[in-house]
Amino acid sequence: MKSLASRGEQIKRPLHREMRDYAAKLGFEDMIYLNIGEPDFATPQPIIEAGKKAMEEGFTHYTGERGIKPLREALAEQLKASLGLEYNPEREIIVTGGSSEALFATIMALVDQGDEAIIFSPYYPPYFSAVIAAMGRPVLIPVEKENFNPVPEETLKKITGKTKLMMVNSPCNPTGAVYGENTLKALAEIAVDHDLYVISDEVYERFVFEGEKHVSIASFPGMAERTVVVGSFSKTYAMTGWRIGYVAGPEKAVSGILKLRGAVNVCASSISQKAALAALEKGEPYVSKMIREYDRRRKLVYEALSRVKGFKVSKPKGAFYLFPNISSLERDSFKFARFLAEKAHVVTSPGVGFGEAGEGHLRISYSASIENLKEAAERIRLTVEEGWEGTVST
Ligand SMILES: Cc1ncc(COP(=O)(O)O)c(C=O)c1O
Repeated sequence: MKSLASRGEQIKRPLHREMRDYAAKLGFEDMIYLNIGEPDFATPQPIIEAGKKAMEEGFTHYTGERGIKPLREALAEQLKASLGLEYNPEREIIVTGGSSEALFATIMALVDQGDEAIIFSPYYPPYFSAVIAAMGRPVLIPVEKENFNPVPEETLKKITGKTKLMMVNSPCNPTGAVYGENTLKALAEIAVDHDLYVISDEVYERFVFEGEKHVSIASFPGMAERTVVVGSFSKTYAMTGWRIGYVAGPEKAVSGILKLRGAVNVCASSISQKAALAALEKGEPYVSKMIREYDRRRKLVYEALSRVKGFKVSKPKGAFYLFPNISSLERDSFKFARFLAEKAHVVTSPGVGFGEAGEGHLRISYSASIENLKEAAERIRLTVEEGWEGTVST
């Protein structure tokens, strides 16, 4: 039998899956899962109703490849209101099967064999996989250690004649960082000076706290024509299972993305598109309520984990993650995450699963009830105080 394509060999099984398997094997009934990368809220009822109605009315077939027009128009309006950017819904927006599909198709459309793509590390692992699939070269640039923002001077040093793309993800998974406006401005200047494309993954755009405002790198001078904004309904409207997202960008890039997206999907789910339209029309009161609740949780977990000896916690301003530095206790984050699962019955994500720069950290999701968050943080504190002997059973 001939071997599989070599591109797959460079893509490792995500460590968060290994961690999930490990936790399942332990089989503790009181296990608390803080490794979850999706909202724990139910999809708001008006969105569910719109999905049901679409099915009952027989809106259950393919739609046009770009997505239904009212949804693209509503997205254009929303992008104008939130980012101050004008996108033509006919030519500059495509509705996709989640932002995952959007990211993959966009990277395939922009990256040629041998092209370099800048990815700030730690990073959302599919960026790396998609660049590899495109036969490009991921150039991983560690972020600043305290506030997890990219360092423009370091970025500049890594630019070569082959650099084609810069991935930007603010608010960031896994660190919870919101990039400062000056950082974004400096990155934008680098992109303009070196004629780079930028993919701005803004799936956590609504998850911004501490009085910060979400700023898109696409809104800086010279950026709209080189930036593809990737968005999603998954996190904002608690719609992960509906698989619905979008891209918005310059017409040339969007036409290229449309061609490549055609290789992975005909169109986004018709039912989910109707539901997404209802989300834009009726979802806001639900979103504001959920965001207030995430903020409460964020403050609580930050304070609770700051009390754990050996945990160095930066206060995150965005997304729904904390990324404590645990390296004074143990540098091997997979080992330490297994220890916590085994002894505290709390599942976290090892930071190294998000790139080498994430080693010595844990990603803690606060997409869990206040009660579970309090209990989990207390268990972690007690377990760490009892002592870490440097061993786990497997
Ligand atoms: C940064 C980031 N981008 C994209 C996605 C993909 O989301 P979806 O495909 O559900 O829109 C995720 C999901 O966790 C994410 O964290």
